[in-house]
Amino acid sequence: MSTHEPGGVGAGAEHGEEFRGTEQDVAEATPEKDLPGGGVEEPVVVDVADVHPELADPEVVAEKVASDREVHAAVGEPLLRMEDVTVQFGGLTAVDGVTFDIRRGEILGLIGPNGAGKTTCFNAMTGVYRPTSGSVVFDGEPVGRKKRFQITQMGIARTFQNIRLFNEMTALENVVVGTDARHRTSVPGAVFRTPRHRREEREGIDRAMALLEFVGVGGRATDKARNLSYGDQRRLEIARALATEPKLLCLDEPAAGFNPAEKEALMDLIRQIRDDGYTVLLIEHDMKLVRGVTDRIVVLEFGKVIAQGTPDAVTSDPAVIAAYLGVPDDATA
Ligand SMILES: Nc1ncnc2c1ncn2[C@@H]1O[C@H](COP(=O)(O)OP(=O)(O)OP(=O)(O)O)[C@@H](O)[C@H]1O
Ligand SMILES: [Mg+2]
Repeated sequence: MSTHEPGGVGAGAEHGEEFRGTEQDVAEATPEKDLPGGGVEEPVVVDVADVHPELADPEVVAEKVASDREVHAAVGEPLLRMEDVTVQFGGLTAVDGVTFDIRRGEILGLIGPNGAGKTTCFNAMTGVYRPTSGSVVFDGEPVGRKKRFQITQMGIARTFQNIRLFNEMTALENVVVGTDARHRTSVPGAVFRTPRHRREEREGIDRAMALLEFVGVGGRATDKARNLSYGDQRRLEIARALATEPKLLCLDEPAAGFNPAEKEALMDLIRQIRDDGYTVLLIEHDMKLVRGVTDRIVVLEFGKVIAQGTPDAVTSDPAVIAAYLGVPDDATA
């Protein structure tokens, strides 16, 4: 689990990621980041089968959750390519000439000691930071100068190392907000509530319910996000990210703070997400989880890739053992 908190100008809870607050950005929106705790109200557990009888059938849920967006890369081909990417903050080089591919259909692990540059790689991919040099190409298109909402629309979704939800909105609303990123209704269409807008709204709610069910928090749909347990909040973040219908789902330490049983369940969920046609990039410190769920691993140290390959090859690589596995935490922090 990460304990590292960077300093530096503009470094906040998530290294100064700003919420620019455009309407389209809302799927990425992260206005509240209080961790749960204190003042938890009595939970109201809704039986999803009462409200949405068809969602009692896992096959119906799977059908609504599965990504049916057009992906140009064939399975196994690069979906995202980081090409010699460098990100500098003043004099500090957080990511240093990083090159690796994420292949369509795989679960790729991104590991490394605290401060190695993992989250910064996510930020470079999702348009939070522009690389100082190098390029990120996603599904054949340079991410280049695209804005964050455009990158969401291209098909990259993420969760955050520090949970970010709309705490005062219900779990369902948090996910519906994610489905909005895909709506095609114009602003006048939304204002005058055209049939198309109403249909999209209905479909959004339907899909959001299915996603909540899929990640295992369907029963808490009408609870405010802040009243969900920590583990449920982490799962809710995944549902919200999936709501944008991504091709690539990036998870930044989704198991942080989980007990072994919760980690086991999360591994199953991540596998299921991949089996449903998504590509997954996973930052995770727990080696057991990483080894158990990933197809390949990229290892970063001091901003550089020091190894990549299968979990077995990488975790027995002496450079990795020295950099990451064999060195006590306080020596790498
Ligand atoms: N906005 C920023 N301003 C200044 N320095 C930053 C900023 N963001 C990241 N850094 C620095 O860049 C380096 C890489 O940080 P990053 O958060 O990417 O590491 P990480 O691998 O995700 O670490 P952790 O495992 O602790 O989450 C660190 O030295 C960090 O302090
Ligand atoms: Mg990080």
